[in-house]
Amino acid sequence: MKNFIKLEDLTNFNETLSQAIDLKKNITKYSALGKGKTLGMLFFNPSLRTRLSTQKAANSLGVHSMIMNFSNEAWALEFENGTRMTGIRSEHIKEAAGVVSQYFDMVAIRAFASLTNKEKDEAEIVLNSFSKYATIPIINMESATAHPLQALADAITLTEHRTPHRPKIVLTWAPHPKALPHAVGNSFTKMMKNIDAEFIIANPEGYALNPEITKGVKIYTNQDKAIEGADFVYAKSWCSYEQYGQILRTDDKWMITPKKMKLTNNAKFMHCLPVRRNVVVADSVLDNPNSLVIKQSENRIYAAQAVLKEILENG
Ligand code: CP
Repeated sequence: MKNFIKLEDLTNFNETLSQAIDLKKNITKYSALGKGKTLGMLFFNPSLRTRLSTQKAANSLGVHSMIMNFSNEAWALEFENGTRMTGIRSEHIKEAAGVVSQYFDMVAIRAFASLTNKEKDEAEIVLNSFSKYATIPIINMESATAHPLQALADAITLTEHRTPHRPKIVLTWAPHPKALPHAVGNSFTKMMKNIDAEFIIANPEGYALNPEITKGVKIYTNQDKAIEGADFVYAKSWCSYEQYGQILRTDDKWMITPKKMKLTNNAKFMHCLPVRRNVVVADSVLDNPNSLVIKQSENRIYAAQAVLKEILENG
């Protein structure tokens, strides 16, 4: 694997998953692997988990990391070719990608969806442009349409809490006052193709994810029916994909409450965080021992470590 831009870039999902679980048992096992290497981390958007877990993963491999908040510290980037750069964009991606390739051995990038232009978001202009013009491996720390490090961490968490039977796992839309991207939902759905489970997505009318990604997955528009008997309930908010970037409802009927969790098979609750309490999920569900959200965030370290290790070993 040269780049980790999407989950499908992994050479072998199950091997990487096993590697991540192994690394958790002995985080310093490969502490000399990245000696003398530097990871650049470029943030176009805020982060708590991704930033700190990826840095910790790099440290544990002996990799030095350098961070830049591109949105407010770097020159505004121009991505169009052949344009006369008379506006606010002072630096072209060709030079920026070329320059960072001189300073780092790998570069990890976070660049969210604009949610104003579906075509541009789906073109993944930031990640793909760095990939095109940089000469070093690129790692996705959440792009417009994908969050593969989160999905890999979620696979670790699901594996650690495996049920004796084939589990029922439900990804459910949840309310949110802001329009949020589809990246986590997309990558979780793709990741679930590698897990032996009954997988269901629940979302209200108008909130279906990209049908190309959910092809073959059972989709319910009745949340209660969907989570009935579930072993895992993964809540996530996203804006409408069809009416791109829009919020279509503001009620709290899809918030995860203790009453909803009573419909499940004593399900574990999952969310990638950050989460808005008593908007997405009730306090008592988050504070219940069945909530895995902190364990999910811990597993971000080992997901990142497994990915960085694979890239270091390949090149
Ligand atoms: N889940 C996740 O990616 O968290 P951050 O946005 O804090 O990195």
